[in-house]
Amino acid sequence: MTTLDLTRGYQSGFGNEFATEAVPGALPVGQNSPQRVAHGLYAEQLSGTAFTAPRGQNRRSWLYRLRPAVMHGHFSAYAQPRLHNDFEQGAVSPDQLRWSPLPLPQTRTDFVDGLYTMCGNGSAAAHAGVGIHLYAANADMQGRYFYDADGELLIVPQLGRLRLLTELGVIDIEPQQIAVIPRGVRFRVELPDGEARGYVCENFGGLMRLPDLGPIGANGLANPRDFQTPNAAWEDVEGAFELIAKFQGQLWRADIGHSPLDVVAWHGNYAPYRYDLRHFNVIGSISFDHPDPSIFTVLTAPSEVPGTANMDFAIFPPRWLVAQHTFRPPWFHRNVASEFMGLVHGVYDAKAEGFAPGGASLHNCMSGHGPDAATFEKASAADLSKPDVIAGTMAFMFETRGVLRPTAQAMEAAHRQRDYQQCWAGLKKQFVAP
Ligand SMILES: [Fe+2]
Repeated sequence: MTTLDLTRGYQSGFGNEFATEAVPGALPVGQNSPQRVAHGLYAEQLSGTAFTAPRGQNRRSWLYRLRPAVMHGHFSAYAQPRLHNDFEQGAVSPDQLRWSPLPLPQTRTDFVDGLYTMCGNGSAAAHAGVGIHLYAANADMQGRYFYDADGELLIVPQLGRLRLLTELGVIDIEPQQIAVIPRGVRFRVELPDGEARGYVCENFGGLMRLPDLGPIGANGLANPRDFQTPNAAWEDVEGAFELIAKFQGQLWRADIGHSPLDVVAWHGNYAPYRYDLRHFNVIGSISFDHPDPSIFTVLTAPSEVPGTANMDFAIFPPRWLVAQHTFRPPWFHRNVASEFMGLVHGVYDAKAEGFAPGGASLHNCMSGHGPDAATFEKASAADLSKPDVIAGTMAFMFETRGVLRPTAQAMEAAHRQRDYQQCWAGLKKQFVAP
């Protein structure tokens, strides 16, 4: 029995043509599927885009493994009712919504069982939209492995580190780092700190990529070299294990007699990656006013409409505010897109209280939102002759072009703040007639 080598490290770059082998000579040279692969490995292609996608967007990897992925038993339904994609049922209120942190579990709960769907739109079947989930877990996934056929998973830890042991290698992340697990990649999750909570955006649409930079130029925002993809790491373990699949909005389970984390070598550009949000090069105004919050985009999943994302992942990291003659916190606004926000760490600059790390807010299409009354009063009287520093914070937003429909469990949750709108009740009429 060989278990995963956790010291294998990472390769830098975004969407590169990576190549990695945990056993020397395992990768074929000059071809993908030789008649016999070295060391008796099986060759298998994992396609993340259509075979015929344009070269610049085509994503696939070749895996060289102990056994092909086809080897497992029949799937049957797996009951985890807190995770689903049933977004299109019933009325949806345009109310502004906010939640306190998802409570940590009291009984043994691993990452898969700890997923809790908050809201979403579109569907896996349509290859458009997103599912937005939280997770709260207190146990390693033991003897079972998971893959999501419905979308790629953007994982944003808020509490506790995660060790993501994937087919293509091992990723360690902590709060203020993120990871993306591509659609279909099998993995299991360990919790080095014993407990973990965080956010997951399940992207049903086109793959996330770095945004174009336009006049910003060749550098800035999230730089490609700061993305890290793991080197190959494999295990040779047999036993009575379980393969959990998310397929068309629900979970399925099958028996599997071996660990599917048995890829000894791989090459290609379809692979999991991690990114440290503290490496984000924040760009903003040095004269007056704010750029739109799209200036904070880390990753974007495009739709078929140019410039209109299926989903954007934006962050609000530590930064200096120097704009003159300007209301420095985020302004009041209404947006055709819908905004789900979370807080990893610290305090968000548009809210004095109530938006806690591990909590969430949802401002849907054209629902007004902005700073609370206390923040408005403070910022309106601030001394603009000095810069302000926003330190020790990391908020983020999953923004989508479709309305985010909250699940019944999210609406009925005891941790939903039913008095959220009161945070704006103290905004006074300031107008004085001439
Ligand atoms: Fe907003």
